[in-house]
Amino acid sequence: MPLLEVKHMTHYFGGLRAVHDFNLSIEKGEIRGLIGPNGAGKSTVFNLITGIYRPTEGDVLFKGQSIVGKHPYQIAAMGLGRTFQNLRLWRHMTVLEHVKMARYSKLTYGLFGAFFDTRKRRREEAEAEAVARELLDLLGVHNVAHELVTNLPYGMQRRVEMARALAVEPEILFLDEPTAGMNPEELVEMMEVIRQVHAEFGMAIFLIEHRMKFVMELCERIQTLVFGEVIAEGAPEEIQNNPKVIEAYLGEEVET
Ligand SMILES: Nc1ncnc2c1ncn2[C@@H]1O[C@H](COP(=O)(O)OP(=O)(O)O)[C@@H](O)[C@H]1O
Ligand SMILES: [Mg+2]
Repeated sequence: MPLLEVKHMTHYFGGLRAVHDFNLSIEKGEIRGLIGPNGAGKSTVFNLITGIYRPTEGDVLFKGQSIVGKHPYQIAAMGLGRTFQNLRLWRHMTVLEHVKMARYSKLTYGLFGAFFDTRKRRREEAEAEAVARELLDLLGVHNVAHELVTNLPYGMQRRVEMARALAVEPEILFLDEPTAGMNPEELVEMMEVIRQVHAEFGMAIFLIEHRMKFVMELCERIQTLVFGEVIAEGAPEEIQNNPKVIEAYLGEEVET
């Protein structure tokens, strides 16, 4: 059984068909890529799978069980961690608080009743703190644990967001353009961070990327989305040389 399976997923925003008959099957530990021009529907695919939107048609199965209709926090607690294309971080929270809170919600949502048992709750809080600190250490942002996230440079904020996604112990990690807005130096660092996270935890990764080179180096298999439809799917070399893909990227500012 695949870890994640998407079957005939279609989504309309009013009259706009943003995603049409999208199919996907991801195995444990696999690194998958989704590319395509701006407005192709890539973020919408993520938002449909992670419960931000409910698909108009089709099904999403995680370990064989349908997750359509579940809330984003329930889906996260099941083991689907994610980051957003535009960072969603809280102005008044420190780096450590961001990651701790994600961890703590996983524990609370996972165990109903834990809320009323103070001893258990204190133990969980301590555990959340320990896990959060370990993750910050792994991502190289431990030294800014008590800073407000908004005071950090952009590349570091992305790392904090990644630490937060990891706090739910995801079996699959969704990364929506993790290098958006980064300079070349930060980009190379981010690629290393993703490699390191994958080596450490071995979870599956589903990566949306606009920069071809980045996705080509990281992913074993790539899908290309254009106007909500998958026009090509295969190994990086096949995708790179596919005339339909090349055409779709023509006229786009291709960053490498
Ligand atoms: N919440 C929304 N309401 C209406 N239209 C949307 C919404 N989100 C995205 N869209 C539209 O759906 C299409 C796909 O958007 P998106 O998934 O963000 O593309 P990508 O991530 O590939 O750049 C675009 O035409 C976009 O304007
Ligand atoms: Mg997007």
